[in-house]
Amino acid sequence: MGLLIQSGRIITDRDDYVADIYCAGETITRIEASIDAATLPPDTDVIDASNKIVFPGFIDPHVHIHLPFMGTHAKDDYESASKAALAGGTTTLIEMICPGPQEAPQAAFEEWRDKAAELAAVDYTFHMGVVRFDELAQQQLKHIVTKEGIASYKVFLAYKGALNLPDEHLFDLMSMAKSLGVIVTAHCENADLIDAMQQRLLAEGKTGPQWHEPSRPTAVEADGVHHLATFAEMTGCHVYAVHTSCDEAVRAAIDARLRGVNIWVESVAPHLVLDKTSAERDNFEGAKYVMSPPLRDKRHQDTLWAGIASRAISCVGTDHAPFDFEDQKRRLGADAFTKIPNGIPSLQERIDLLHTFGVLRGRINYHTLIDAGATAAARLFGLYPRKGTIRVGGDADLVVYDPQRTHTLSVDASFSRVDYNAFEGWQVTGKTEVAIVRGKVQYRDGQFVGELGRGQLLRREPTHF
Ligand code: URP
Ligand code: ZN
Ligand code: ZN
Repeated sequence: MGLLIQSGRIITDRDDYVADIYCAGETITRIEASIDAATLPPDTDVIDASNKIVFPGFIDPHVHIHLPFMGTHAKDDYESASKAALAGGTTTLIEMICPGPQEAPQAAFEEWRDKAAELAAVDYTFHMGVVRFDELAQQQLKHIVTKEGIASYKVFLAYKGALNLPDEHLFDLMSMAKSLGVIVTAHCENADLIDAMQQRLLAEGKTGPQWHEPSRPTAVEADGVHHLATFAEMTGCHVYAVHTSCDEAVRAAIDARLRGVNIWVESVAPHLVLDKTSAERDNFEGAKYVMSPPLRDKRHQDTLWAGIASRAISCVGTDHAPFDFEDQKRRLGADAFTKIPNGIPSLQERIDLLHTFGVLRGRINYHTLIDAGATAAARLFGLYPRKGTIRVGGDADLVVYDPQRTHTLSVDASFSRVDYNAFEGWQVTGKTEVAIVRGKVQYRDGQFVGELGRGQLLRREPTHF
């Protein structure tokens, strides 16, 4: 069955025009000023997009769905995450594979891959987490690139004793990544400094969620970015600093870029619109807002928005890491903020937040919204031009968006399984009406109408030599 989208305002990272789009099967086959529906096969699905925007399907380059972490498991699976993604206009996910220190990389890859294959209704790929670098791990990590089509690694400079990759292995991993053309994505915070700061605060009786930010201040994150950049400088490896939260860390990356380091910067939705006062809320409510790097002083948001507008920050993801408030954050973290499972879910909300607080506030324009929310990730992570734009020959991943529709964010309106919404009661303007993945409508008018398991693993070629 074909799909005709009529009279939409088509916006990409560089174009803005009104036209009709016809998709035959999974691919966009025609984009023309006017396509006569009478000339198309009789079973063509016709969507009237007049007064609506047609965006390329958005890509979230940083999500956690299957996530065993801090003694518990994240709440979503690919069913709830796909529905949340689609309702928010996201049609491709890049999930972090986060194995435990003892787990072999190949087994971890298969575990994450199989969970996605069973239930995904959006397309997906992975950043392969590297938490060990012995001989077996090296062999398997190469295989995951060359045979499984995963073209990016992920390292944690934070989470000492859990996910953290020590420097002795970081150098060798990055040297190997350089020779394979693989980009290394990194959580940049100094693990030892955090550990020391946490112990000091707990010893002073400072155990509540409000102490999470002071235990990992901006200098700790900037140090992490600088550290990553130094290793990139020594190895020539291309790197991507995930969830960069503050002015100092962004500047450390820009500084490195000016030295010739191939470093790209990601920001995530929570840091753009929430600040550390949320984590200071009474009755342990602050735990809902514990993520790492932490929510910062509000002034950092100006740097982040300016970084996006100037394209110094390439991508805006979510770092969707869904843990319940009551049974996970509150129960596990009651005695110490260090035990609160880290994460603020925003997979469904990301694009509407960027539209409301970015485009409609005049901080970014539509082209930047699309570049930061889709195109840049497609280019960096080997998905372009199949994904991330609207073109004849590309995958028919499309979003029909009503830029004027106002709605309220809430736990009740969310497809994520988490028992709270960090943006509860917020009014936003702009809403996905229809989300299409490879030519099939998967979400329409508030309902999931797709097929679980239809999502495809996107195999990628390394390009970062
Ligand atoms: O708080 C966060 N970011 N939780 C998920 C794990 C990570 O660091 O990305
Ligand atoms: Zn992280
Ligand atoms: Zn993350």
